[in-house]
Amino acid sequence: MKIAILAGDGIGPEVMDEAHKVLETVAGKFGHRFEYLYGLIGGEAFEAYGQHFPDKTAEICAEAEAILFGSVGGPVEKMHEAKWKNCEINSILALRKRFGFNVNLRPVKVYPGLDCVLRADIVEKGIDILCVRELGGGIYFGEHRTEGDRAWDVMEYDRETIEKVAHAAFKAAMKRGKKVSSVDKANVLDCSKLWRKVVSEVGLRYPDCELEHVLVDNMAMQVLKRPFDFDVILCPNMFGDIISDEISVFAGSLGMLPSASLNVDGFGMYEPSGGSAPDIAGRGIANPIAQILSAAMMLKYSFGLDAEHDLIVSAVEAALAEGYRTADLVPPDHTFVSTRAMGDAICHFINKLYV
Ligand code: IPM
Ligand code: MG
Repeated sequence: MKIAILAGDGIGPEVMDEAHKVLETVAGKFGHRFEYLYGLIGGEAFEAYGQHFPDKTAEICAEAEAILFGSVGGPVEKMHEAKWKNCEINSILALRKRFGFNVNLRPVKVYPGLDCVLRADIVEKGIDILCVRELGGGIYFGEHRTEGDRAWDVMEYDRETIEKVAHAAFKAAMKRGKKVSSVDKANVLDCSKLWRKVVSEVGLRYPDCELEHVLVDNMAMQVLKRPFDFDVILCPNMFGDIISDEISVFAGSLGMLPSASLNVDGFGMYEPSGGSAPDIAGRGIANPIAQILSAAMMLKYSFGLDAEHDLIVSAVEAALAEGYRTADLVPPDHTFVSTRAMGDAICHFINKLYV
């Protein structure tokens, strides 16, 4: 099994080390052999090649059977420097475009023992949400232009793009709670009117699945008030970017949220839902769990290794149950473990749970 490893910038390399360790632990247990192809992406690639997404990296990705991605981007105050300017657009967005990763799955659940910002009586009703984000179109991929003191970003959607992601959402919902809540801003945007129309039409093909349409501003509020009512939340690119960050707090931290990005052929890229967190990079305090769970999703979706996926998830839960917490999971001034210690704990539980 050939895996392209693109660790990238910021906390990417630190958390990737732990995911790699977990993969090797799982490989040892099950007798698998993973082959890793390492590629540069983002600011680190710019330093080496003068490009954020070098051809060499594209070749490595094309050769691999799955891509495990870390994160890219630099500190906001350095955005004007060549190394960081348009880094996200040129690297991660270009990568998503290149391989047609149109469907992004971001599962959110509450982990027992982790502090959740919601009231206990709300959490008790059960929170298990899959955010399905359209990843290859919309305003992130339209023209971006600045002329003096005016700037444009063009939002565009077509039927085909919406149909693809809508089918993915309904298919996922049919294996879960059989409900899709589609997010738009159809009271203002033409793209959203088309979105609503196409999603409704696709929905007719899944008569056993409930469909509702929710305006994005309203969803931002409803999902906090009654998160237990949502199963699959289907979003256009930008709204999904925002709503997935919002609901990550249910899991305790954005550092807990993995994601899978898939194309029509089932080729996949797996990455944490969070960013490169330059403010904490290099200090060994980042939470590696989103990266580790992304690796687990890779085993499941790209290689069909469901038992291996489940073992990693159980080991993460065991480490949390034993009280292991990285800095993002504790209140200020509480003690926490390092990135590496969390990775070690998860490997320890993989060894312990697999007999
Ligand atoms: C994400 C990130 C990216 C996005 C950024 C880094 C371009 O925020 O994966 O959610 O907006 O897609
Ligand atoms: Mg985001």
